[in-house]
Amino acid sequence: MPNAKNFVAIGKLSKEEILSLITAAAAAERQPNRQILAGHIVATLFYEPSTRTRLSFETAANRLGAKVIGFSDPKVSSTTKGETLNDTIQMVSNYADVIVMRHYLEGAALYAAEISPTPVINAGDGAHEHPTQTMLDLYSIHKTQGTLDDLDICLVGDLKYGRTVHSLIQAMRHFRPRFHFVAPQELAMPDEYKQQLDRWGIPYQEHHDLSPEVIGQCDILYMTRVQRERFQDLGEYEKVKDLYVLRAAMLQDARENMKILHPLPRVGEIAYDVDATPHAYYFKQAENGLYMREAIICSVLGKSLEE
Ligand code: CP
Repeated sequence: MPNAKNFVAIGKLSKEEILSLITAAAAAERQPNRQILAGHIVATLFYEPSTRTRLSFETAANRLGAKVIGFSDPKVSSTTKGETLNDTIQMVSNYADVIVMRHYLEGAALYAAEISPTPVINAGDGAHEHPTQTMLDLYSIHKTQGTLDDLDICLVGDLKYGRTVHSLIQAMRHFRPRFHFVAPQELAMPDEYKQQLDRWGIPYQEHHDLSPEVIGQCDILYMTRVQRERFQDLGEYEKVKDLYVLRAAMLQDARENMKILHPLPRVGEIAYDVDATPHAYYFKQAENGLYMREAIICSVLGKSLEE
């Protein structure tokens, strides 16, 4: 009967657990290279493409002294011969101490966690959740703002299919945020998430334009990519893909402390001239992912990063 400590859904984390992971990530950042996972094996099973998530998990494992096995493309696994996810997880849990999995199906990580005797970390399941991205987002917000409390956060772009924004609003519920949602009607924040915010008493405003006025009201401007891979009808994708392009000239009224985050990759929604502004933080955010993923791997394996 599986009883491993998994990391599958951000909504399961308490405020104290979130803050504890942020403290652990800061400890990892101060000293990223240690041998505390020597003798451990981390498996990375990626059924969908990835650059940052897979490479930062693998770097985190290597920097902590673990060894890495896995695949970055299911075509090179026995999935192509018809092996089920159940059987793959049963097999890999014989070989590895922790399984990091990205899958195209919503709920795949929860399913894997339910059947796996070794811990499972969700590296993204369809349009559902991306909880380790959320933790690195929270670490980035905390580092740049000095707090997670009482912040104005603007989410821009694909709020319908964007798993990173769905996970972020759930995690921020502990910290009294105020949200602005900027999206076209076709990609608006789904009702289920707005109803959750209503239940939690968290205010939000919806906009169709990314105006300097909206930008001037936020501490965090969280840009997202319109995800071509989530559309059944590519005509619909073509209609919305270029609606929001953030340019340096649009930042003239931005608060001094305002930072721009993006889970990346970007495909045009942040112009290159933004990179040189003091508001750009997305590459540092991706670097923060390494430290947070060291903290998460240690957490599920019951290891401490505290000095
Ligand atoms: N942010 C993120 O998940 O990036 P990758 O798809 O490159 O892993």
